[in-house]
Amino acid sequence: MTAYAENITERPSHSEKKSVFSNLKSQPADALLELIALCREDTRENKIDVGVGVFCDDQGHTPVMRAVKAAEIQLIHEQNTKSYLGSAGDIEFFRRLIPVVFGNDFKDHERLSGLQTPGGTGALRLAFDLIHAGNPNADIHYGNPTWVNHLQIIANTGLNSISHPFYNREKRQIDFDAVLDDLKQVKRGDVILLHGCCHNPTGCDFTFDQWKALSEVISQKGLLPVIDLAYQGLGDGLEEDVAGLRWLSQQVDEMIVTYSCDKNFGLYRERTGAIFVLSQNAESRKIVQSNLIASTRTHWSMPPDHGAAAVRIILENEALYDSWLTELNAMQQRISGNRQSLAKADSYFAPLLQQKGMFSILPLSPEQIKKLRIENAIYMAPSGRINVAGLTPTTIDPFVKAIQKVI
Ligand code: LMR
Repeated sequence: MTAYAENITERPSHSEKKSVFSNLKSQPADALLELIALCREDTRENKIDVGVGVFCDDQGHTPVMRAVKAAEIQLIHEQNTKSYLGSAGDIEFFRRLIPVVFGNDFKDHERLSGLQTPGGTGALRLAFDLIHAGNPNADIHYGNPTWVNHLQIIANTGLNSISHPFYNREKRQIDFDAVLDDLKQVKRGDVILLHGCCHNPTGCDFTFDQWKALSEVISQKGLLPVIDLAYQGLGDGLEEDVAGLRWLSQQVDEMIVTYSCDKNFGLYRERTGAIFVLSQNAESRKIVQSNLIASTRTHWSMPPDHGAAAVRIILENEALYDSWLTELNAMQQRISGNRQSLAKADSYFAPLLQQKGMFSILPLSPEQIKKLRIENAIYMAPSGRINVAGLTPTTIDPFVKAIQKVI
């Protein structure tokens, strides 16, 4: 008998074998992903999906933007290789996004590192990896509530997160004094996670004056701001939505921006994003960039190309850029229009007029949210967050009536 055959005979039986998988604990389902599945399974024709954050047109459809379609067609004709691009992805995509985020007069290129990522989530993962590598004891401060996945990503990197009050549920607006008071207490070198615009889940954005006040505390305390910018253009407009971020970027030495093109280019499933890191000088820029590349290599090695290539083509071509911006502005207008229709229908929705972007939170109990789902086929996040962009001229009326019935 060969040694190999002997080993086979001596293998423990299935029952005695210690399995790696038997040590695993079942993980709770992500509430939003669960909601998508529940809604998909519901066959009622009158169902209203205000759950996951995707833009819908008047027919309730999430379209491929015209400029994206044109860029994709161009890409298919022009692309003559699928060979690797490298861990940083499409460098020209990254380069062309810089003025979109930081403005045409941005001058700090020698301090700016970054690369293409799979969606904003990929960028967030790299951001927190980078922070963990630089200072595993840094606490991440965030306003409560925040996007649920923020906390999961932070926890997975091994960092600690600490919440501060942000949203006043009664007034349905930001409690800015509480935010400032809390920030004044945090330790130097900590990290503050902010939403660039169109806060997810509340829709409550800082005013420009509030950004200025925040910038002062952040720079005085030497905090590192991480700004999640996933909805640029869907609040007040492409430039308006980043006025606060740009102001802050001029007051601090170091800052991270995690960017998503999934919503403002309608690229959702293509997972298109970027990370931008401002560091103190050109020397530290090099080190940061090498860390981003190393981190990328172990997560996804190189990001998927298609979405970023389409965005790059749009940003390189004036006609496509204009078409994209026109359509983006129309999307923003449709969302504001829905906010106005809701507020006109019932004063219960009046706070939505002060909020921006796709999301707002309705003050509903879990029982009310469940009732709306069971009796009216209305799907919203368990927090009462609604995707305002999911409502259409046909569904607004039944939506308002159903809410009026439960409140
Ligand atoms: C949302 O919050 O609905 C989106 O950002 C989708 C997601 O991945 O959670």
